[in-house]
Amino acid sequence: MTVSLTRHGAFAVVSVDNPPVNALSQAVRQGLWDMVDALDHEADVTAVVLICAGRTFIAGADITEFGKPSMEPLLPDLVQRIETARKPWIAAIHGSALGGGFEIALACRYRVALASASVGLPEVNLGIVPGAGGTVRTPRLAGVGPAVELVTGGKPVRAAKAKEMGLIDAVIEGDLLEGSLAFARGCDFEQLPALAQDRAVDAMDPEFWATAEAALIKRVRGEVAPLRALACIKAATERSFTEALAFERETFLDLRGSRQAAALRHVFFCERAAPRPSELNGVTPRSVRSVGVIGGGTMGAGIAAACRDAGLPVIMIEQDQPALDRGLANLSRIFEGAVSRGRISAQQAEDKIKGVAGQTDMSALADTDLVIEAVFEDLSVKRAVFTQLADHCRPDAVLATNTSYLDPQMIFEGLPHQERFLGLHFFSPAQVMKLLEIVPTKQTDPAVLAAGFALARSMNKIPVRAGICDGFIGNRMLKVLRAQAERVLLSGATPAMVDAAMREFGQPMGPFEAQDLGGLDIAAFQRKAARERGDPVFAPVADRLVASGRLGQKTKAGWYDYPEGSRQGQASDAVTDAIALAVAEHAVPQRAWTSRQITDALVLPMVNEGAKILAEGIALRASDIDLVKIHGYGFPRWHGGPMHWAQAEGLAVVVAGLDALAQAGLAEPACDHLRGHSLSGQAL
Ligand code: 3HC
Ligand code: NAI
Repeated sequence: MTVSLTRHGAFAVVSVDNPPVNALSQAVRQGLWDMVDALDHEADVTAVVLICAGRTFIAGADITEFGKPSMEPLLPDLVQRIETARKPWIAAIHGSALGGGFEIALACRYRVALASASVGLPEVNLGIVPGAGGTVRTPRLAGVGPAVELVTGGKPVRAAKAKEMGLIDAVIEGDLLEGSLAFARGCDFEQLPALAQDRAVDAMDPEFWATAEAALIKRVRGEVAPLRALACIKAATERSFTEALAFERETFLDLRGSRQAAALRHVFFCERAAPRPSELNGVTPRSVRSVGVIGGGTMGAGIAAACRDAGLPVIMIEQDQPALDRGLANLSRIFEGAVSRGRISAQQAEDKIKGVAGQTDMSALADTDLVIEAVFEDLSVKRAVFTQLADHCRPDAVLATNTSYLDPQMIFEGLPHQERFLGLHFFSPAQVMKLLEIVPTKQTDPAVLAAGFALARSMNKIPVRAGICDGFIGNRMLKVLRAQAERVLLSGATPAMVDAAMREFGQPMGPFEAQDLGGLDIAAFQRKAARERGDPVFAPVADRLVASGRLGQKTKAGWYDYPEGSRQGQASDAVTDAIALAVAEHAVPQRAWTSRQITDALVLPMVNEGAKILAEGIALRASDIDLVKIHGYGFPRWHGGPMHWAQAEGLAVVVAGLDALAQAGLAEPACDHLRGHSLSGQAL
């Protein structure tokens, strides 16, 4: 039974049991509806406690039902039915009361929660607004300002904060059912609190809404739902309760079928599927209970911090004592930063730092389960490290490289126990960035690969399997984006136009300002290596800038000028000159560019590269490419990643766009894989 009833004296206890997260499927809605009807007519029931089995309270509407025809009872009707029940209902919350689950709780006369529980309205994260009264009841209980924060931000709040906001009545210590029944016994049911619909809501002045809207527009960069949610709350303050509910429902239904909502649902399900890929079903990962990190630079310190956050003890190895001192200082700085931002306590930081042992001798790794190398990006340096590791580590220890561009197969060549090696490509800062590219070689044992995925799960990262090629999935596509950005410059656009167009598309930064922030020397170093390998490289302007010492913000000059102390780039005559020289060299015809044409010229070729990556088996699924670009490179989530975006645009449109760019000499033509799928109408 998904919804069942037990009795505790005069109290009825209604339990929802619909694993994994008690989502409001039709069966749950019907079960609750029938329960309200039945209990309304039971004279000896004083009040009803609504509680859930398993890991959480009701976590929301059943997202898998979105896109299918609606089935009665509809959620808003159920919420209304509970709110107007003859018996007072008490929501007893553990885990998360989210979206529709919280809307049900808001319709109850009382809400109690364990201290560990959280409540919230995360609908905007799925490209929709609450659709069962969340935007109308929340401001009546918590006030308009807090409601705006909760609904437009989509972040749940813990029980204590929710109580402070007036969203719950009590925080329960100990057993939730016992505590809820004790709470019920203490209630005066002759003096019921007012229903949300009977409570007043503050009218806000126009300035409040203008300020809230301006702040939101700046934050959301093209994402629609948060602004529509704000409009719903505004309506809740200006219209009657019933009219506001109708406006909210209309907005919800409009957005539920929108392209952004489909994209965000796609990302939601891909993120949940990523840690457990079907090809590793039944494979037991090699156990990882301790980690060694070689190198304490930018990446080594970040990786060590991520391991500590996952509760793993770490041995950090550096080449000598001064370098080790620097590495350990890098690590301390990471945790001190977390303390100053209020993320962890000083005591927690101390404990995390204590869990890292510094060493300069690899024999310290004799009993370590996993070693991650993060030394200089140089094949001979890395090979020397792995030769030493092969001597010192247990034969079953997993040995991984964090290389960005080198071929892991070449790094490990000739070493014994080839089955234990793999690439673990973290992104900077490694303790923050969610993406982990996991790169098996031809010989990597499935249990070793599975250990990589298990590590990602313990670090709360999004793992994506990537095959071996220059730059794996993410950096290979980044290279295309950067080359395209230069092609557009050479045919008439300016860096500022390109950056603005990509920001308008939803990227947090344009490609040129991003290079200025990270430094132009890193990519120049990679281009040099690629040229030495005989690979084609296209960066005629970047090459000139680097040659003249313009390495980005750190040299106060890159794609933009940064006059003393400024982090705001200004258009640069030197860059204009470098572009003109490149134009003359390549004899490129000039044309006018619109924002949309610029984003097409950058994004379509990335999609094309993604299709090649799929055809070559470098990525196993189009959705893996989407996760890489969203979590490693700031591709807007609400576009669903480049491959989902292409599918939503229509593959035939994408192919036609690429062919038009190719005819103008501005991109490669669509690859066969893309063309084939566009003709067959199949998903990528
Ligand atoms: N509907 C359907 N399936 C859901 C779901 C939902 N609302 N929420 C989670 N699931 C599924 C996941 O896809 C996953 O399935 P899988 O095991 O097959 O991969 C499984 O439940 C477990 O999910 P998580 O791995 O995310 O479990 P966690 O324990 O880490 O997190 C959670 C639990 C915090 C509840 C998290 O799942 C979550 O945030 N869920 C989404 C909540 C949400 O967005 N609710 C609002 C829905 S929209 C709505 O209610 C509209 C209303 O206003 C009308
Ligand atoms: P870094 O220069 O900041 O750090 C490298 C560290 O390795 C230095 O502290 C150095 O002393 C140490 N080291 C060198 N040889 C050593 C040896 N034999 N034994 C022990 N320690 C040794 O470099 P960074 O940026 O941390 O990069 C490390 C690796 O991570 C490179 O392969 C790089 O390509 C890769 N990477 C870098 C990213 C970035 O954004 N910086 C992102 C993802 C991967």
